[in-house]
Amino acid sequence: MNRIIFALDVYDYNEALSLSRELSNDVFAIKVNWPLVMNNGISIVKEISRYSNVICDFKIADIDNTNRLITEKARENNAWGIITHSFTGRRSLKAVVSAAGDMKVFSLVSMSQESFIDNYTDDLVKMSMEENVYGLVAPGNRIDILRHIRSMSGDLKIIAPGIGAQGGGITDAIMAGADYVIIGRSIYSDPEPLKKVKSLNEILGDD
Ligand code: C5P
Repeated sequence: MNRIIFALDVYDYNEALSLSRELSNDVFAIKVNWPLVMNNGISIVKEISRYSNVICDFKIADIDNTNRLITEKARENNAWGIITHSFTGRRSLKAVVSAAGDMKVFSLVSMSQESFIDNYTDDLVKMSMEENVYGLVAPGNRIDILRHIRSMSGDLKIIAPGIGAQGGGITDAIMAGADYVIIGRSIYSDPEPLKKVKSLNEILGDD
């Protein structure tokens, strides 16, 4: 099982496509974020989906109708998954889940950046489970919080950023309960990204 989700946080179209082609067989999914989509339009999601599962990290955080409109665009462009905030509450989250169809919804319940306000994390996990999301985003570099979220979230898939550039250790995050680790800079800033991914997969014992 491949456990790496590659965070493709580049602007350039050619670089994005070439990294996607190069790494697609060795990662579970490619995560795209606003920098890439702002520079190239949403159709870049469809292009990358020819090579890999694509997760749209749009961190949706709006009223229900706007959430629906954003989610529909990701779905139209063959995204495999979508990341939404959950702090905006049940009505907003429901709108994403219902517009997602077969797309997997990942609900963000805590962030890798230590300044995230964690006062409501337990409530966000409970609500996300009640609203039948597919998975959660939880910090791979704040291990106690990740472990706590794992203990609350049954068999929901947990995807965890914060590895490498943000200080987290890849095996620590998996041991604390992440199903997948999200890694960006440590891969795309390496002079040999494919070699880097393969070495990370070896550490994880995956093929
Ligand atoms: O380069 P790095 O490995 O730090 O990339 C992490 C990716 O995960 C970025 O795209 C970042 O926006 C995203 N992310 C995060 N923390 C969260 C949610 C998403 O770092 N809580």
